[in-house]
Amino acid sequence: MKKIYLVGAGPGDPELITVKGLDLIKKADVIIYDRLASEDLLKNAKEDAKLVYVGKRTGDHKFTQPEINEILVKEAADDKVVVRLKGGDPFVFGRGGEEITKLIEHGIAFEVVPGVTSAISVPALAGIPVTDRRYSSSFTIVTGQEDPTKEEERLDYGNLNADTVIVLMGVGNLSKISKQMLRTRDANTPVAIIESGASDKQRVVTGTLGNLAELAEKENIKPPAITVIGDVVKLKFNK
Ligand SMILES: C[S@@+](CC[C@H](N)C(=O)[O-])C[C@H]1O[C@@H](n2cnc3c(N)ncnc32)[C@H](O)[C@@H]1O
Repeated sequence: MKKIYLVGAGPGDPELITVKGLDLIKKADVIIYDRLASEDLLKNAKEDAKLVYVGKRTGDHKFTQPEINEILVKEAADDKVVVRLKGGDPFVFGRGGEEITKLIEHGIAFEVVPGVTSAISVPALAGIPVTDRRYSSSFTIVTGQEDPTKEEERLDYGNLNADTVIVLMGVGNLSKISKQMLRTRDANTPVAIIESGASDKQRVVTGTLGNLAELAEKENIKPPAITVIGDVVKLKFNK
């Protein structure tokens, strides 16, 4: 039976993949992988494994999602272990659901192997717990850019009812995000931006909600980056 394993690669450090995910990489005949999946993980692949890169870059889309879906359908084969390796967790802003929908349409079996999402692990590696009973009883993970083809924006950043807000894919949009948040949150709320977390290029800058956009610009923050907004940033254990 044709089957594809959707495997979460974790946030970038190749040691932060699950045991099950690594076992599958070692066994795979085909690995279809993204830009964010650590390339070091691929060193574990069999020598004759077929490696198919389908990474996308902002403004320079290598493959569209429908093209990636087609590649998955094409690579699925009865007698092969086929792994779709995705950054972080496949279902956290990973379009894993869209890929599975396509597999179902084509009668291809699938198994999801969850991954360590960057949304929580990147703040953790920068010394920021996303909850702490002294400062935060809740957190929310939001995208910094909604699908531009959507007719109506679903997100109002001023209306997020959680103590800690974690923004993925927000680098180009921090001005709008902070402006909306300032309707309901104090300008002195601490913020941290973590660029290239879980890697030796990791950079963490801190400031306040009031100067978030200026901070990102001044520090020339580049994706991938995660922004954490909330009092937990005060804790930041790695100074
Ligand atoms: C398309 S989303 C995929 C998220 C992924 N599925 C996950 O669970 O981590 C990509 C965004 O995740 C965040 N991201 C992923 N890995 C990161 C890292 N190592 N450091 C900082 N941000 C990261 C960035 O906001 C990036 O733009």
